[in-house]
Amino acid sequence: MAETILVIDEGTTSTRAMLFALDGRCLGSAQRELTQHYPAPGLVEHDAAEIWTRTLECAQEMVAKAGGAEKVAAIGITNQRETVVFWDKATGEPLSRAIVWQDRRTADFCAELKDQGHEATVQAKTGLLLDPYFSASKIGWALRNWPQLKEAGDRLAVGTVESWLVWKLTDGLHVTDATNASRTALMAIGSGGWDDGLLALFGVPRAILPEIVDCAGRFGETRLFGTAIPICGLAGDQQAATIGQACLSPGDTKATYGTGAFVLTATGTTLPTSRHRLLATVAWQLGGQRHYALEGSVFVAGSLIKWLRDDLGLLASAGESEAVARSVPDNRGVYLVPALSGLGAPWWRPDARAAITGLSFSAKRAHVVRAALEAQAHQTHDLKTAFAGDGCDWTRLRIDGGMAANDWLAQDLADMLGIEVERPAFVETTAMGAAMLAGVGAGLFGSLEEAAALRGTTHAFRPELAAHKRQVRLDGWTRAVQSVLQT
Ligand code: G3P
Repeated sequence: MAETILVIDEGTTSTRAMLFALDGRCLGSAQRELTQHYPAPGLVEHDAAEIWTRTLECAQEMVAKAGGAEKVAAIGITNQRETVVFWDKATGEPLSRAIVWQDRRTADFCAELKDQGHEATVQAKTGLLLDPYFSASKIGWALRNWPQLKEAGDRLAVGTVESWLVWKLTDGLHVTDATNASRTALMAIGSGGWDDGLLALFGVPRAILPEIVDCAGRFGETRLFGTAIPICGLAGDQQAATIGQACLSPGDTKATYGTGAFVLTATGTTLPTSRHRLLATVAWQLGGQRHYALEGSVFVAGSLIKWLRDDLGLLASAGESEAVARSVPDNRGVYLVPALSGLGAPWWRPDARAAITGLSFSAKRAHVVRAALEAQAHQTHDLKTAFAGDGCDWTRLRIDGGMAANDWLAQDLADMLGIEVERPAFVETTAMGAAMLAGVGAGLFGSLEEAAALRGTTHAFRPELAAHKRQVRLDGWTRAVQSVLQT
């Protein structure tokens, strides 16, 4: 009997497969790192063939762990969003590198469109802003600059990463789900279809794009593991985490601290409109009905700790950052603004560059590391202010992602936000959300609400910091951000 759900969680720095029992227990996990290609400052690329082969290896391991394909009821896929893959429909092979969401190569193109007055229309149609983060300008740029894409003619297929994986798993199904499509800046968020005006604006022919489908259903099946396994769940990783955290009612809010930090507040079937440079996004689509969220996207979170470890050599391991931050009583006036790939919400400055401010001879390694961790709460506080301005203030924040395992960071978030921060015992909420969607798509659960019972127990962190200390931190951070914005 098929008694497990296989989840593929394809992230920015690594790809994973996880196996879940139908009661939500995680039975196993396999992970492979992905090579990051940085051909020039601001450019970030992935090898789509590597994404596929490493993902397949992980999935094979988990199918073996399940005891064979016949033991797997359904597959759920979740992925880094906005990253675009270009492949040949005839050979199923990539035609170029994938352009990653962090890539800033289209900053000038986006600035030009902004100068021409297009941002208001793009925001009204898509809920997004004119920033190189989103897929549309990347696709347009690739079509203009990579001749092999033009040469491929009608053999060219384009899609975000879940679309690429579904194509490879099914040998030729070209679909994307509504959450991933909502991050391209080519989908009209209100109608859920590709928009002719946006396609023309970014220079993207409709024929190269996938069909937009729901987040749960029977989309196709894979025979790569033996007996056919249906693919039943699809969602971008931040939307999957929103579902995995059971943020199903309007006002429910989660923050995921992965490569970047992404905060989503569910708004139900009401499409939110931001006046504070946040994004409207599809949280999930079931039976053609879209549920929405307001999103604040911060580009650098865990990648900052990785950079401190791998490039600056300030840490031996990411886990060490907690003890190092605790080893000093305060930041000694040091602030770190992690604009290593520009600034996302609420500033949207692709040209901004990172800074460490307030350094004096008394500053030690521990103060810089502490400033890096403190930056997470500072950036989240900026988002909280923007959400409140849009009428969506948070009363409680559910956190997850690799960095959320750090108790010091979780407490600092509660202290700086002044609200309760809740962390589930099982922090892999992105994978959990994809499992919930796959379970609903396979008919194992009647609804996401029913599937939400899988979430399990949580731990709460409550604000403790004295108000005047909090204010000193916020003032110091504001000064540091302003100095970055002004340069
Ligand atoms: O929008 C980008 C986001 O989906 C990346 O997620 O998990 O790689 O930080 P992650």
